[in-house]
Amino acid sequence: MKKKKEGLGRLFQIAGQRKCLLVVAGVLSALSALCMLVPYWAVYGVMRELLTHAADLAAVDSRLLVSYGWQAFGGLAAGLVLLYGSLMASHVAAFHTLYGLRVCLAEHIGRLSLGFLSNTSTGAIKKTMEQNIEKIETFIAHTIPDMVGVVATVTFLFVIFFSLDGWMATVCLACIVVSVLLQYANFMGRKARDFTATYYDTQEQMSASAVQYVRGMPVVKVFGQSVRSFRHFHDEIMNYKTWALKVCDTYQNGLVAFTVLLNSLVTFILPTGLLLLSREPDNVALAAVWLFFIIMGPGAASPVYKLMFLGGGTREIDECVKRLDRILDRQPVPEPVSPETPQAYDIEFRHVSFAYENSGQQTRTEALRDVSFHARQGEITALVGPSGSGKSTVASLIPRFWDVGEGSILIGGVDIRHIAQEKLMDLVSFVFQDTFLFYDTIYENIAVGRHVSREEVERAARAAQCHDFIERLPEGYDTRIGERGVYLSGGEAQRVCVARAILKNAPILVLDEATAFADPENEYRMQQALQELIRDKTVIIIAHRLQSIISARQIVVMKEGRVVQTGTHQVLSTVSGTYKRMWDAYTDATRWELTNQPASAGY
Ligand SMILES: Nc1ncnc2c1ncn2[C@@H]1O[C@H](COP(=O)(O)OP(=O)(O)OP(=O)(O)O)[C@@H](O)[C@H]1O
Ligand SMILES: [Mg+2]
Repeated sequence: MKKKKEGLGRLFQIAGQRKCLLVVAGVLSALSALCMLVPYWAVYGVMRELLTHAADLAAVDSRLLVSYGWQAFGGLAAGLVLLYGSLMASHVAAFHTLYGLRVCLAEHIGRLSLGFLSNTSTGAIKKTMEQNIEKIETFIAHTIPDMVGVVATVTFLFVIFFSLDGWMATVCLACIVVSVLLQYANFMGRKARDFTATYYDTQEQMSASAVQYVRGMPVVKVFGQSVRSFRHFHDEIMNYKTWALKVCDTYQNGLVAFTVLLNSLVTFILPTGLLLLSREPDNVALAAVWLFFIIMGPGAASPVYKLMFLGGGTREIDECVKRLDRILDRQPVPEPVSPETPQAYDIEFRHVSFAYENSGQQTRTEALRDVSFHARQGEITALVGPSGSGKSTVASLIPRFWDVGEGSILIGGVDIRHIAQEKLMDLVSFVFQDTFLFYDTIYENIAVGRHVSREEVERAARAAQCHDFIERLPEGYDTRIGERGVYLSGGEAQRVCVARAILKNAPILVLDEATAFADPENEYRMQQALQELIRDKTVIIIAHRLQSIISARQIVVMKEGRVVQTGTHQVLSTVSGTYKRMWDAYTDATRWELTNQPASAGY
């Protein structure tokens, strides 16, 4: 396999070919740097002319001086025009690269397993897509031309220095080389790198702690934990302070030496020039060169200084690209080579085992073990079991949020891995345990981009028992959720999601605690409506309130990731086992208020 590139190389590999534009930007930037030196060269020319005729100023060639003036002006103007061209080219390259990266990331994320997206915090993906990409923009548009310009300036300057006087040029070069080496030892060593990593980590921990402190404020206040919670935040700040001071302590000597040495070039140029002049006091040309060095020496220091800071940007880019790769390296859901289309819609789980991969800690959470059951078409299959027994996991395997570890899931006899992803999505309608509403109108939240008539949306909303409260909203179906104080309660939001699933009218309907928030009357009416809608469909319902699944044709009882019982309510509630214990506890709990007897022990 081809070795994977890193850093900038990898960046261009991802984003396509924009290298030529960047080369143009680099060349223009270097030429601009050269032109920007012309005014200094002109000043040197003027000084030399003046010094040569110092005794008799009337002999100064004024036409020559004027021509130097024009040269300086021309150099500066050309420099600015070239710089403009360079920045234009680099910005075009940057935005093309960004476009390439965003499209590439968005397409890739679209192909990833839905499970990965629900598991990875959306914050992390958002950060990668926004901040890291912004950094890449700055780097390509500004840092690259800047760096080329700075390197070119230093190179041209030293070419001039050496052509004027070898001794003074060597002194300047030695100063710069020693200070750069000092700085390199300071920041680039392995120890320094680890040190910086820890420093950034503490910084991240501190900001995470700050976010948690603010976000968790309601819980903290209600439970009277303000002091304890603040102490945690405070500790993180102190931890950061300790590291920040350590960083200052460690780097201060090196940094001071670097800065002082770099900025004291004149200190070395002066005696060197004096020494040279003392040997030939009448050499006017040497005096002019000496003056040139005194003026331009410090000028060489500032680009070197800039270069050191720009160098930091390169490391940041490596980090950004690494983070992008972390997303791009994830394998998309494999599409079948020759997709099959199921003719029936019953669902069969055959010896399915599944474990969640916890990518952060390299561990696995075993969620399902040898799960087998058959959900027939036109019937309701209910999944029940204690919290954490794997019900939602079973449901999420049907639309391939994850792929099974062992065994297989079949729809109408076809392994779901042989069904095209898009087709599978058409087949399955899903109401999640945690609802998600778009920041959009109620109408759009139910229709989700499909072109359906208002009547159809209303019919679905009526079936889901949400038509009445929608009508009461300020603008009915056109009310935007989250705007002007319109928020839905948990139950209302869930019913909107049920309406969405009803409208999709897919042959398979999976409801994960879809009626959990509904009040008993709404739940009853919703079930009546569902009875109508689910004829010929395969329905899987997950419910904690056992009352709501009594009429299911089949109840699959789960415990610790296994199927422990299957059957109807009538049968299961009479034989001893998990379901009977759950049912007894459930009826005890609902009777509790009347009899005031404690509910019997758990499952
Ligand atoms: N995204 C995930 N990553 C890692 N482990 C998970 C993930 N989701 C669930 N689990 C683990 O898998 C097991 C089964 O979880 P699941 O959500 O399927 O239970 P459940 O029966 O739906 O529970 P509840 O009734 O509370 O909704 C649990 O032990 C849980 O910790
Ligand atoms: Mg669940």
